[in-house]
Amino acid sequence: MPDETKVIMVCLGNICRSPMAEVVFRQHAKDAGLNVLVDSAGTGDWHVGQDANKNTIKVLVERGYEIDHTVKQFQPHFFTQRDLVIAMDHSNLKDLQKIAKATPDASELRLMREFDPTLGHLAQSHPELIVPDPYGGTLDDFREVLDMVESASIGLTEYLKGRL
Ligand code: 4NP
Repeated sequence: MPDETKVIMVCLGNICRSPMAEVVFRQHAKDAGLNVLVDSAGTGDWHVGQDANKNTIKVLVERGYEIDHTVKQFQPHFFTQRDLVIAMDHSNLKDLQKIAKATPDASELRLMREFDPTLGHLAQSHPELIVPDPYGGTLDDFREVLDMVESASIGLTEYLKGRL
């Protein structure tokens, strides 16, 4: 069996967007029979060791996903231990680009919504490609994030099917 493809989802706090992207994409990859290992991290360290945000858990469970999450901070060596690093917004992307620059042979770095089948034609800098930060927002804000990561996960699954 070929080695599994390792994908990491990255946001700021690792309590809202990236844990959702991790859980949702893991389910899509599993359903498609892909040999993929998915995890997530935050560029910040404020919540290290904590669970996901309660609204993150609520909306995931509402849609039938299971989550068992412990926050971790992104480490530079993840760029050599993952095949694909996926940022949620342009601020995460910029922080990660800085780390990648200082890392020889850094892996591919993309935005989550670049994989959305309806948005993939947009340049990486396009403002519509962000998964907005729902921290402190309403449950509907979290549901909107979940819609976005579900849609992007469909395209990401197709992308990896084409690569594996
Ligand atoms: P996330 O949301 O990046 O989607 O996990 C945030 C969570 C916490 C903070 C910021 C964004 N914070 O500043 O603590």
